[in-house]
Amino acid sequence: MESKKRLLFVCLGNICRSPSAEEIMRQVVIKNGDEDRFYLNSAGTYRGHTGMDADARMRQHAQLRGYKITHKATPIEPSDFYDYDLIIAMDDSNYDNLRRLAPTQEAVDKIVKMAQYIADPSVDHIPDPYYGGAAGFENVLDLLEEGCEELYNTIK
Ligand code: 4NP
Repeated sequence: MESKKRLLFVCLGNICRSPSAEEIMRQVVIKNGDEDRFYLNSAGTYRGHTGMDADARMRQHAQLRGYKITHKATPIEPSDFYDYDLIIAMDDSNYDNLRRLAPTQEAVDKIVKMAQYIADPSVDHIPDPYYGGAAGFENVLDLLEEGCEELYNTIK
């Protein structure tokens, strides 16, 4: 049997963007009846929120679209570069940090940017919503809904 595709979504804190991406992607694969073929998780490059629920504002905005985010923040670990097939960075800073942490060239080659799955060429990252208002959280969800559909279509 074909082994599962293992995807790890990564942002800074693992309390806003990447846990949202994980849950939105989960709903995309469920909608397509494909949940048995995927293992999805998320992590942060910053360890400071380890064990915490996702940001309450992020959970609230996601809930309004029917997404229930239950992930607890987890820092990226060296073993993740072996355990996952694709590591999806939310912004350039996450991408650069991941490339620095990657232990092998094979690991480097697993790292991509979420923005590459967004059609609008002016979108080059998923903006950090943490210090902004409601519009920033809605924008994150809009971008991730589009990006996860395209990511799924690319790798299914
Ligand atoms: P995230 O958002 O990387 O999308 O989880 C942030 C969460 C926390 C902080 C920054 C961004 N922070 O500075 O604590």
